Amino acid sequence: MIGIFDSGIGGLTVVRAFMEQMPGYDIVYFGDTARTPYGNKSPETVVKYALENTDFLLSKGAKIIVMACNTASSVATEKMAERFDVPIFEVITPAVELAIKTSGKSGIGVIGTMATINSGIYEKKIKQANPDARVYSFPCPLLVPLVEEGWLNKPETRMIVKKYLHPLKVRQINTLILGCTHYPILKKIIQQKIGKRVNIIDSSIAVVGKVKAFLENHVEVDSMLYKKGECRFFVSDVTEQFKKTAKDILKRTVILEHVRI
Ligand code: DGL
Repeated sequence: MIGIFDSGIGGLTVVRAFMEQMPGYDIVYFGDTARTPYGNKSPETVVKYALENTDFLLSKGAKIIVMACNTASSVATEKMAERFDVPIFEVITPAVELAIKTSGKSGIGVIGTMATINSGIYEKKIKQANPDARVYSFPCPLLVPLVEEGWLNKPETRMIVKKYLHPLKVRQINTLILGCTHYPILKKIIQQKIGKRVNIIDSSIAVVGKVKAFLENHVEVDSMLYKKGECRFFVSDVTEQFKKTAKDILKRTVILEHVRI
């Protein structure tokens, strides 16, 4: 099984990308809805959660782990690699690689949670790949709660997205990284507000490409993964809103299993 976790609903954008690009692979998902959001927590707390979530997914039979969460990816990648000996994938590097390919000499914008932006990880990785790159990063802390609440097309949400994107609009970027897996759910609004000439990089899609390439080169790992098209969805708190938004994202009814982490 491919084990995927996030603080809540956002990682389902990664599940959706797996279903589209690697259909048939069994998935076990964990959404840490009892402890969401991660974006305003300290790095120590997020690392602790990431390790616990991974222990849980491994106990359910996951053979590879995808941190479908930029916040966890930005602070926990090293500790995860130290602790576990299964392949671990984070969402930041794949998004940076795609952004570098498309941005040319123009600026790259990054939006994410407070923890992700404060970690400076995107800026660091982009500058490593291209020292001349102009990078502008901004936190958008209200977007995760809006998505978790299912406020996907409310005028208030559109207004907040517009306000958050204003500093990027005036900096003439041509590439915008959605540095939070919740944000692809608002992609349409984000595209409208940033302008159609800006290329949006969705970390949820980027990471699947990485996993696919890895499995093509590691058949010994690929052969351990079941391919019966089964998906199990675990959450640390069951809410009606999660069920509703999950259905909107995956276009199917999702059966939630409650687990105490
Ligand atoms: N979806 C997550 C991310 O990509 C977590 C957001 C949060 O819990 O604050 O950062």
